[in-house]
Amino acid sequence: MIDETRDYEAIIAALQEIAGEVQVCTACELHKGRTRAVPGEGPVDAEIMLIGEAPGFNEDQQGRPFVGAAGKLLEELLAEIGLTRDDVWIGNVVKCRPPQNRDPRPEEIAACAGYLERQIALLQPKLIGTLGRYSMEKFFPGARITKVHGQAKRDGARVLIPLFHPAYVLRNMSALPDAKRDIHKIPRLLARLEQVLAEEAAAQAPAEEARQDEPGMTQPEQLSLF
Ligand code: URA
Ligand code: SF4
Repeated sequence: MIDETRDYEAIIAALQEIAGEVQVCTACELHKGRTRAVPGEGPVDAEIMLIGEAPGFNEDQQGRPFVGAAGKLLEELLAEIGLTRDDVWIGNVVKCRPPQNRDPRPEEIAACAGYLERQIALLQPKLIGTLGRYSMEKFFPGARITKVHGQAKRDGARVLIPLFHPAYVLRNMSALPDAKRDIHKIPRLLARLEQVLAEEAAAQAPAEEARQDEPGMTQPEQLSLF
């Protein structure tokens, strides 16, 4: 959704600058094995940001996130809520492929974190969906995915929701119904966030005005469902 208060040209330029830095980055060991770094991609005005773990074989070849089998399932899950991959911003916790797709190491995640943080600050997504363990750990430290998947949390003007990694679902197809149920929460969460933020803004307006605008207004505390 276009927000007229934001300078999209400047944001696009800053995102391109980050992508350029990532492509030549040597801040961790992973740069040695990469064919192409995968900075992440999507529309500059995306409301939804999905964050995976690390590029795999296909991503490393193409320089794009989630273009292999896991990406295909991710696209199918997005289709459940009427979205395509072009509607969301997709990135990863680490931008270069770990050898043999091993798990990224803490020092690699730490070395790469600044890029993702800058991307989030520029994109200002309304909702961040974490895909899998490493991405979840950043926003839900210590949580267990089998326990907390689908349980959204509000973070200021944003909603965070831990989702199963599509590669995990491919290995455990019994998780597919849960994965679908979780993704179906996204439109409702976005609508709810919008409503809560509007209510809070109204509650902060001078009392007289608020009374005139919205006679039966509920207090914001009662609205926090995240
Ligand atoms: N798995 C991930 O976590 N990220 C990708 O980009 C592809 C597969
Ligand atoms: Fe740099 Fe991140 Fe690639 Fe490591 S994974 S080399 S920190 S871009």
